Amino acid sequence: MKEDFYKHQTQTTPHPLALEVSHAKGSYIYDTEGHAHLDFVAGVSACSLGHCHPRVSQAIKDQVDKYAHVMVYGEYIQEPAVSYTKLLASLLPKNLETTYLVNSGTEAIEGALKLARRATGRTEIFAANHAYHGNTMGSLSVMGYEERKSAFRPLIPDVRFIPFNDNAAIAAITEKTAGVILETIQGGAGFIEPKNNFLTKIRKRCTEVGALLILDEIQPGFGRTGKLFAFEHYNCIPDILVIGKGMAGGMPVGAFVASHKLMQTLQDAPKLGHITTFGGNPIIAAASLATLREITETQLIAETLEKEKLFRTLLQHKLIKEIRGRGLMLALILDHLEVANHLILTAAKEKLILFWLLFEPRAVRISPPLTISNQEITAGCEQIISILDQY
Ligand SMILES: Cc1ncc(COP(=O)(O)O)c(C=O)c1O
Repeated sequence: MKEDFYKHQTQTTPHPLALEVSHAKGSYIYDTEGHAHLDFVAGVSACSLGHCHPRVSQAIKDQVDKYAHVMVYGEYIQEPAVSYTKLLASLLPKNLETTYLVNSGTEAIEGALKLARRATGRTEIFAANHAYHGNTMGSLSVMGYEERKSAFRPLIPDVRFIPFNDNAAIAAITEKTAGVILETIQGGAGFIEPKNNFLTKIRKRCTEVGALLILDEIQPGFGRTGKLFAFEHYNCIPDILVIGKGMAGGMPVGAFVASHKLMQTLQDAPKLGHITTFGGNPIIAAASLATLREITETQLIAETLEKEKLFRTLLQHKLIKEIRGRGLMLALILDHLEVANHLILTAAKEKLILFWLLFEPRAVRISPPLTISNQEITAGCEQIISILDQY
């Protein structure tokens, strides 16, 4: 299979980890030789309930036997999408009552950027340095990392950048601004939390000048940081919330959420302001509904903070300079990038899955399933410490 993988499937790095997967269950991925790999990455924060969670698997099976795709987005009334968006609205602040379901995080970002332009009639978008919002042209335009996007220029015009957490830069947002897009916690940059009321101040400025605040919670959303959504930590409610990844228990999904009034602007001038064939797909919506019910009907969110404490207690080592992030969205900042590479690659050989962050080469990602047990956390952390001891 390896040879065919390299020949027929596109790779985006010269050295993929190339784990040959047989099946996966709970916190483990099993390779084709039968070895269990402890998963501290969860498909890059997507498998929030671990692999093959019975509630999610059952919901998918039940739905696939009823009906799969029947119509393009938004034309027919389909129970899974209706039930999901209604439940989601009941868990969000009042203004976030209407959801547009799409197929991936980056598509949701595209929709949010279009909505900001359409609703305000303005073009300027502010984003943050070192931001990551996805890889399609609009998302790439608001990525704050020139090295990864310059080869694809020209991108969409009228995008300006401010440093994340720089309160002095907020004044640059003006009546010309359509929207400000920020990750609630910066992911690719190294799991950087907002501080000094940065988000509250951004919120205030957006309200003052009539710009829409878009918060990208594609990674921290759905309980990963100890709240259902990370903005709940920072006294800041966005106009448009963008979600994805952990939302559907490992199925491909994204969504943007806003007020009913804002969303109505997608209905005319022009009509069909954002369309998609598979958005709101009933199987994905059923998986999303099962995932959201499981996250909110159990203690998983509260346990996330206990699990964070356990990680922080166990992961003390002179080569770990800092542990950034919140809940189960943690980044080990190592002494230098060679240590980070050594840790990830050695752990892979020893069947512990760790991964890099996009723009912070000293960082090692720890974003396990929310369902990970204390025993599994302890075993993985002991392995990390032992690898670092031998460095
Ligand atoms: C914060 C953030 N925004 C957007 C995206 C893009 O999501 P997708 O890969 O589903 O397009 C990601 C994915 O890593 C992300 O972490």
